[in-house]
Amino acid sequence: MSTPTKSHGRKTIRPSLTPRDLMEPAPDLARAWRAQVITLFPDAFPGILGMSLTGKALKDGLWQLQTVPLRSFGEGKHRNVDDTPTGGGAGMVLRPDVMAAAIETARATQNRAAPLIYLSPRGRPFTQGMARDLAQRPGATLICGRFEGLDQRVIDRYDITEVSMGDYVLTGGELPAQVLLDATVRLLPGVLGNAESTEEESFSHGLLEHPQYTRPSDWAGEKVPEVLLSGNHGEIAKWRRAQAEALTRDRRPDLWEAFQARKND
Ligand SMILES: C[S@@+](CC[C@H](N)C(=O)[O-])C[C@H]1O[C@@H](n2cnc3c(N)ncnc32)[C@H](O)[C@@H]1O
Repeated sequence: MSTPTKSHGRKTIRPSLTPRDLMEPAPDLARAWRAQVITLFPDAFPGILGMSLTGKALKDGLWQLQTVPLRSFGEGKHRNVDDTPTGGGAGMVLRPDVMAAAIETARATQNRAAPLIYLSPRGRPFTQGMARDLAQRPGATLICGRFEGLDQRVIDRYDITEVSMGDYVLTGGELPAQVLLDATVRLLPGVLGNAESTEEESFSHGLLEHPQYTRPSDWAGEKVPEVLLSGNHGEIAKWRRAQAEALTRDRRPDLWEAFQARKND
C-alpha cells in the first residue's frame, strides 16, 4: 500500500463559491452527521450542498463534510490512480491498492455504523427510503468512481454497497454523491425549517405529491382549484389525496402497484 505524501483526509477543500469556514469544524461536530467523499475532484465539494438549507446546516454543524482526495494516494511521481483494464478493453480502471489506501484513511476516522458506498450505475437504485435509512446512521463514506470504474476486488474486500442514481452513465460519481447527500441531509433533524414539509412530499407515503399552487389565485385567466380557497381543510386534504393518487397511477405504475399492495396487506 502506498504512503501518501500530500495531505489527505483533510477536512477542508476550498470550494469555488463557498467560504472555507463553511466546512470548518463547528462546536457540536461530535453529533454531526459525517459525510466523507473519496474523489479525484475534491474542489467539486461542497458545490451546491454549500448553498441554501444544506449549506446552512453544514455551517451550523448539523452535518460535516470531509473530502478525501484520491490523487494524494496515487503511485509514483505522477500520483497514478488508474491502469488499463486487465483482459483488454477501452478506458482505465481505478487501482485497488490506491483506493484501499484512501478507504483505510477515511474509515479510520469514521463511525463503524456509517456505510461505505460506491456510486455506480450497477448499484441499487437510490430511493427516498434509502435516504431515510442513511439519515438514521451516523454518516456515510462515499466513493466517487471515474473512468471505467473501480477494480472489483476492492468492492468485494470492503463489502462496499453500490448505489445508482439512475439508468444512465455519468462521467463520475461526484454528482451522484451530491444528490445522495442532498436527499439525506435534508432529512436530518433541524435541517428543514418546516417539519411538515417532508411528511407531505413525493414518496413519503409511497405516492407522488399533489399539485401545488400559490398567489395570485387568478393568473392570466388561469384560476387555482376552487377547493383550495374554501378554507375547508378536510375537503382540501381529500382533494390533494385524490390528485396524488391519480398522478401516481398515471405517471408511475410501479409506485402505484407497490402502494396498492401495501394498502391490501
Ligand atoms: C463512466 S462511469 C463508469 C461506468 C461503468 N464503466 C459502467 O458501464 O457501469 C464512471 C463513474 O461514474 C459514476 N457513475 C456514472 N453513472 C452513474 C450512475 N448512474 N449512478 C451512480 N454513479 C454513476 C460511477 O462512480 C462510475 O464509476
